[in-house]
Amino acid sequence: MNEKDVVYLSGEFCPRSEARVSVEDRAFVFGDGVYEVLRAINGRLFATRFHNDRLRRSLDGIRITLEESDSPERFSEIGSQLLRENGLTQGEATVYMQVSRGAATRLHTFPSPPVPPSVYISVSRFKPYSDFAATGASAISHPDLRWGRCDLKTLNLLPNVLAAQAAKERGAFEAMLIRDGIVTEGAKTNFFGVVDGSLRTHPCDNHILPGITRSVLRELAEGLKIGLDETPIRASEIPQLTELFLTGTTTDVMPIVTLDDRPVGKGKPGELTKRLQKVLAESLASGGT
Ligand code: PDD
Repeated sequence: MNEKDVVYLSGEFCPRSEARVSVEDRAFVFGDGVYEVLRAINGRLFATRFHNDRLRRSLDGIRITLEESDSPERFSEIGSQLLRENGLTQGEATVYMQVSRGAATRLHTFPSPPVPPSVYISVSRFKPYSDFAATGASAISHPDLRWGRCDLKTLNLLPNVLAAQAAKERGAFEAMLIRDGIVTEGAKTNFFGVVDGSLRTHPCDNHILPGITRSVLRELAEGLKIGLDETPIRASEIPQLTELFLTGTTTDVMPIVTLDDRPVGKGKPGELTKRLQKVLAESLASGGT
């Protein structure tokens, strides 16, 4: 909550407490929609172009067509307007945007004729996890029970929710998801690990979300001449990890120092992790890409 708490819902600006969606909205009955979470620092959205491209890709991926007057770019502008209207132009905030296939009588197939997609955009004050960023956090491993299009940022997050809750119940910050013996990503983050001195992460395929922070970090690492190997890390390689960190819009670079109650490397944030954490922080502070 913020002081004014104005949100945007399908063409209208209104107080969050007065925003209403139909019980027949397909987000409500099917989770039939996509979303984005953007970071805003001092009123400026970070990596907007990447988020706009990914939102467009997610919409195409589940075959939602926006109204002619709408576009991801317009949603970013609305996000910026909401930051201003809600007095969030100083400090840290997040912008949430969600598009569903609209409201129609419940039927699995798409509404025919099509109905206008429902668009919801809101902003919130955000507090980075600075303590964990300094000391490192813990993670657990958990089966990856998700579907075959994890590259789309859809509202269907049940396996992620269950994995995140399992982590919380074991006092951990994140659940590392394992599919067919391979670590894919976290429940709400991507990850990078150091094995035998080389920085590795899962390649961008249908088993992971192409994270914006992952992309930004990839470019920053390249600028520092740090090589990145996109050979997936096998669960059996976990004991050989000397460093491990998560990346995400609300996670930045988060060192993981224990995994399944065993120390990762020396059990404290690694040198490469700290270097990358620093360059990402600088990029965020400068407004980034
Ligand atoms: N989560 N992987 C998954 C499954 C995610 O849900 C997220 C982001 C990421 C990191 O992506 P990015 O760097 O673009 O934030 C990776 C958002 C923040 C969320 O669901 O709240």
